[in-house]
Formats: sequence, structure tokens, C-alpha cells
Amino acid sequence: MSDTWYFLINLLICGSTRSGKTWAELKRLVKAAEDGNIALVVIDPHKDSLAGPLLSHLVARGMWRRVLFERLADLFRVLSWEFLTASPAKDPLIRYAENESNIRAFIDVLCRRRQIDSIAATPLIEEWVLDVLWLYVEQDRPTPLTDIQFAFEPRHPKLRQLIDHCRNPEIASKFQAVALGKTRRSQFAAAARLIKSVCSSPAFAVRCASNPSFNLGRHLDNAGIVIVEGGGATLSDDAMRIMMGSVILQVIRYVRARPTPYPPVVLVVDEATNAGLIGASGFETRALAECAKMGLHIHILVQQLNFPTAAITDAVLANTLAHEWFFNANAAVRRQAAIDLGDREYADVIGRFKVGERAVKYKNIVYSEYVTPLDDPWGFEGLAERKAKRALLDIQARPEYRTPEPRTSQFNNDDEDDNGPSEDNNPQVGI
Ligand SMILES: Nc1ncnc2c1ncn2[C@@H]1O[C@H](COP(=O)(O)OP(=O)(O)OP(=O)(O)O)[C@@H](O)[C@H]1O
Ligand SMILES: [Mg+2]
Repeated sequence: MSDTWYFLINLLICGSTRSGKTWAELKRLVKAAEDGNIALVVIDPHKDSLAGPLLSHLVARGMWRRVLFERLADLFRVLSWEFLTASPAKDPLIRYAENESNIRAFIDVLCRRRQIDSIAATPLIEEWVLDVLWLYVEQDRPTPLTDIQFAFEPRHPKLRQLIDHCRNPEIASKFQAVALGKTRRSQFAAAARLIKSVCSSPAFAVRCASNPSFNLGRHLDNAGIVIVEGGGATLSDDAMRIMMGSVILQVIRYVRARPTPYPPVVLVVDEATNAGLIGASGFETRALAECAKMGLHIHILVQQLNFPTAAITDAVLANTLAHEWFFNANAAVRRQAAIDLGDREYADVIGRFKVGERAVKYKNIVYSEYVTPLDDPWGFEGLAERKAKRALLDIQARPEYRTPEPRTSQFNNDDEDDNGPSEDNNPQVGI
């Protein structure tokens, strides 16, 4: 059986570090891209792991025109995203329902910051975070999401604007009380800190504009490829998690809203648990269960089955039709794999796998194989990297990308606190 034959399927790929998961997925994605009429969204929290090599192979095969490549550590040439979507519905009831669902999902992503499990346990934070996100989605004109950090600053002119442009009188009057100093700061201080720390991350802030710079849905409708890469010194884990989590939500929302399930969309989430990209609220796992018929196929790559809860682990195992088990150094994971594969011998077999070897369970078929890696696309040392670098500059020169205005005064040093000083924020630095 070919080692790339299935990609239009929900997939779980599990193996220790350097067991060959990413290279195997790279080969499958190149095949999927060559198929032509498939949209790809690839979320890769690591630098120089899946994203860069995928771009190299797509460039070598003449497919770079389909690609939007977003390196989140870049601060100078970026895509503008709608990280929280305000419902465009005219009908107030539909708008309310859509906004409610978008806000709840976004709060789940926010809570993955520093592993806060849920803000429901802290009612005051929940109340104020919900309200400030409602203040944002009820704006009657396009507004950058980062403006909500000023909603807790009584004398800030942006708070005045947010209140004046809010369509919801109840929410407007709540923030009017903040503006007039009638609400004690202790009421909203914790929520304000949470929102401020997100909005003032440079990588997040430069990607929030009044209007998105591109239409994600239209790009995917045209079998486009979106590659989002993390890593790099300017990007904190928190900011990366929120942006990547939001992109995943946007893709799920897009497939749910489109009238037909075409083109199929393959959404790949590498390092899904280490990077906290699958949440406890079940939004992503519900998509695994429900969205295959809408043409969404999710590939989840993990080193072990450390999803946020046992229920999420069960949901992932139940709703991925194929499981691939690469070498695993953890005996407990090998035992889980053996149970999944239906033969306890596999616990030892997987412990002896060399890099690139895997046991596959597809429905009730089980087999082992070695995945031959892709050849270097150009055959000359360093040439693939140079060609991809050149292509990335061309991609970033497109109108979908913006050069953000310097807004340094509103940034805090959160990202640098987490990861050391900025040094890798030049778009021309290599793949
Ligand atoms: N099929 C293969 N045959 C030979 N070598 C391989 C194969 N696949 C991967 N490798 C080698 O192993 C290294 C690690 O592979 P890969 O990046 O796919 O690991 P991984 O399982 O994704 O690890 P991590 O969890 O750390 O991301 C590669 O850089 C490459 O050198
Ligand atoms: Mg990997």
C-alpha cells in the first residue's frame, strides 16, 4: 500500500521526538497538494520543522502561487487576521447566536494561555472578558481587536469610541460606568490584565487591523494553501497558541458555513498537545466528529496522548479513522498503541521501530511499513532553501500582506520576558 494514499481522512499520528512523524506527514501533504483541488492549512508551532520543508517542496513543484505563508515571529510583513469574528448577520437573533458561539470558542483559546483551565471558575474574570468581547463584536464599524485593551482604561479616548460605536445598549452602559469611574477597578482588574497581556504581544498586535488583509474563506475556496509557522525569539508561546488556536477555529467555522463540502480541506496540527492546540472545551474534537462530511479532514500529530482530558483523548481516538504509531520511548504510550492496534505484541514492536517506521490502523486493517522520505527537491545542497527563501519574499510581496505601522508604545515586554530578546524578526532571515 502506498504510504501517502490517504489524506482525506481524520488522522492521529503519534510518536516520540525524531521518530519520523513530520517527514511522513510532509510526504503526504505534498501528494495532497499535487492533487490540485484540495485546500491545505498547516499549523506548525516549530521553526524549520514542517512548514519550511513543505514550502520548499511546493516551490520545487511550481505550487508556491497557492501558498500564503505566515511566520508568526515576523513583525514586518504579515497577514492581518480576524482573530475573533464578529457575525455579519443582519438578523439580530442569528447575529447573537453566532457571536455567542464565536466568543465562547475564542475564550477557550484565550484560556490556553499559561494553561488556565477555564475562566468559569473565576466568575468576575469570566463576566468581564465576556463583556469586553461582546463590546468588540457589537461594534458598528471595523475595529482592531487590540482596541479592547483600552476598554478598562477610564479616560482612554478609545474606550469612548468603543462605547459610542457599540450597538448593544446594555454592554455600552456597562463600559460607560467604567469610563465614568463608577465601577471599582478591583471588579475588572484581573480581566483587564488577561486582555492586555494578549493584545500587547507584538506578534499578535501587528496582525490585528480594522479589516483583515485577505479573505481566508475565498483562499480556501480556491484550493489555497495556508502555512502558519511558530517558533522564533520574538514570539511567546502564549501569543502563538492564541493565534494558531484562532486560525484553527476560523477554518472550522469556514467549513461549517460554506454551502458545499468542496474543495476538501486538510487541516494539519503538528505538535498538537505540546503547543496546547487542542482545547478542553471540545470545539476541535466536535469538528473531528462532525466536519468530515463538510469536507474537513484533520491530521493531529502528537508525541503522546496527553490531550487536556481523558474525554478529549477518547474523542480523538474515536473520530480519527486512521492511527499511525511511530517509535515511542514511553512504555505507557506503547501499551495504548497496542490496545488500539488490537495485539499486545505491538507494545514491543513499536519499541523497536527505527525512524520512519510505523504501525497503521485504518478502520479494522492493521499493518506496519517504512515511509521512504521525499528526495531533496533540487538535488543540490542548499538550493532548496535558497529557492524557498526567494519564493517567500515573492509571497510576502503580495497584496494580502501588510507592513504594519510601528506601534511600539502599546507593546509590553511579555514576549521578550518569555523567550529572551528579539533577534529574529526579519522576514529575510532564512526558512
Ligand atoms: N523515513 C525516514 N527515513 C530516514 N530518516 C528519517 C525519516 N523520517 C525522518 N527522518 C530523520 O529523522 C529526523 C526527525 O524526523 P521528524 O522531524 O519527522 O521527527 P518527528 O517525529 O516529527 O519529531 P518531533 O516530534 O521532534 O517533531 C529528520 O530530520 C530526518 O533526519
Ligand atoms: Mg515533528
